[in-house]
Amino acid sequence: MSSTPSAAEPPIVADIAGLRRQLVEWRRSGDRIAFVPTMGSLHDGHLALVAEARRRAERVVVSIFVNPLQFAAGEDFAAYPRSLEADRARLTPMGVDLLFAPSEAELYPSGREGLTQVIVPGLSGQLCGAWRDGHFEGVTTVVSLLFHIVQPDIAVFGEKDYQQLAIIRRMVNDLHFPVEVVGVPTAREASGLALSSRNAFLSAAQRGQASRIYRELQEAARALQAGRRDIARIEEQALQALKTAGLEPQFFEIRQPDLSAPDDATQQFVILTAARLGSTRLIDNLSVNCAKA
Ligand code: PAF
Repeated sequence: MSSTPSAAEPPIVADIAGLRRQLVEWRRSGDRIAFVPTMGSLHDGHLALVAEARRRAERVVVSIFVNPLQFAAGEDFAAYPRSLEADRARLTPMGVDLLFAPSEAELYPSGREGLTQVIVPGLSGQLCGAWRDGHFEGVTTVVSLLFHIVQPDIAVFGEKDYQQLAIIRRMVNDLHFPVEVVGVPTAREASGLALSSRNAFLSAAQRGQASRIYRELQEAARALQAGRRDIARIEEQALQALKTAGLEPQFFEIRQPDLSAPDDATQQFVILTAARLGSTRLIDNLSVNCAKA
């Protein structure tokens, strides 16, 4: 599908008009566009998204925008790592055609106050949404805005942000965006720790502690696979284990893949958790298939 990636530095385009001029040209040539929205500070997990985009379309656009709308008051918006030139260097061998890096004034020219919002109710208020006021509303608003600007054929997101992916799929479905949403499995360190831009805030000792999150997800998955269905007890044991390891878990929940509560007939599960370690908030999830082959 994709043309051979060139090792050229992707041009950085900061204005919507400039981006649109380029997109029109590509569309005229019949090229399909795959889009990877990011907040930058790119790691190997992001590069896996880009590689998937590259496989699926002739043109790849990556956006970098640290979206203030999705940070609740008191969160790490100001401290969020920003590294545009280093990010561009990481993207260079990946064959990215364009790096869209708008300013806040370019994306929200009338300001944040009174901005039109896109909200997926229900799904946005639970799990991470219960702990991060307005977070998913900020995500769906910026992603729908970016979809309108880029008009991609395909958009690629990480499964690490399981709830975000579920919400974006729902939004795309409800609003009839002509975009195929593709999820890419979570990239992990050898210890199991899910790659995240926020891992940059962790000390070496904290990285060791943080790997406990994936171990507890695996432990809960084993319990489900062994036939245990005392869901509340499994969740409670995991919360205790995380606390004992020095983390401050916000939730550890076993759900169905659509994020509804499991029932007696449930065979496919997703286990989701969020925990603070010092000032860093970490999330992870694991899907479990208990259906007999
Ligand atoms: O997953 C992220 O990095 C962000 O939530 C996204 C999708 C780029 C929206 O700002």
